[in-house]
Amino acid sequence: MRRWLRKRPVDEAPEAENDSLPASTQAADPEPEVIKQADKWIDTVILDSDVPTSIDQSIEPDMLPDNIIHKSLEPILEVRDVHRSFQVGGQSLHVLKGIHMEVLPGQLVMLKGRSGSGKTTLLNMLGGLDQPSEGEIYFRGQTLHTLSDKRRTVLRRDQIGFIFQAYALLPLLSAWENVELSLRMASVPSREWKERVAHCLNLVGLGKRMHHRPFELSGGEQQRVAIAKAIAHRPHLLLADEPTANLDSQMGAQVMAVFRNIIETENVTICMTTHDPTILEVADHVYEMVDGQFV
Ligand SMILES: Nc1ncnc2c1ncn2[C@@H]1O[C@H](COP(=O)(O)OP(=O)(O)OP(=O)(O)O)[C@@H](O)[C@H]1O
Ligand SMILES: [Mg+2]
Repeated sequence: MRRWLRKRPVDEAPEAENDSLPASTQAADPEPEVIKQADKWIDTVILDSDVPTSIDQSIEPDMLPDNIIHKSLEPILEVRDVHRSFQVGGQSLHVLKGIHMEVLPGQLVMLKGRSGSGKTTLLNMLGGLDQPSEGEIYFRGQTLHTLSDKRRTVLRRDQIGFIFQAYALLPLLSAWENVELSLRMASVPSREWKERVAHCLNLVGLGKRMHHRPFELSGGEQQRVAIAKAIAHRPHLLLADEPTANLDSQMGAQVMAVFRNIIETENVTICMTTHDPTILEVADHVYEMVDGQFV
């Protein structure tokens, strides 16, 4: 099954339809393709009785397309014996208890576990939003756990994208303006904005919704704007905390189809948390967390 998902060709985009953009930035609206892909996913991942119920970790190298093999040489993220404790009411709460993990470039890695097991705490550390009490984290070979606040902020801004369960879009800004804002914040030259915003919104299948504000979009569409916003500045790593938790299975599948597509086309690596067993099926690797440890 995973071979089929990985080898899925990027479909040709249909003709441009958005009149509101100049010709140079007009791009095809692939929304029907995204939805078609999501439908295929639902058929294949959820309904197909041949689909294994457990995660297959034993793909043979010759089953992988070349680009996956070449991408997978050095880890983009390495976590070594990470602990995190919080001081609460004069007591120490030991939340992460010796985490080891490795994420390779081009992978879609998922963290699963019960509520309170420590998934968000770990994800925050992978993105440099928080630091471990003990242990080491390396991002693209660089130590993350010893970086100053200022350097972690710069690294996050330039190299990491975040997606949250509740989308985190600015409500008064259109989809276009929300995505453009992330380019402004990442100091991308303004001459590149128009093309990049149009490209990212088309990539997530929202070519026809570019000028809608969040309340004029469905939950799945809002999450796809959030994805466009998170990848606009070309991050190496995308971290997503329960990105499908507020969505029904159809919309969740659309988001996962977009994730697979951007791994291939934008050279991004994704690490996400989820509770959804159907979504776990499309991961390259799943880490299960129980009470602050992987099992
Ligand atoms: N800043 C903090 N101060 C004190 N305790 C915290 C802090 N952040 C997290 N915790 C505690 O750490 C534990 C793990 O929280 P975390 O948010 O990582 O869980 P989770 O696995 O993401 O859960 P969920 O699936 O509900 O999102 C919880 O018991 C939480 O109360
Ligand atoms: Mg959480």
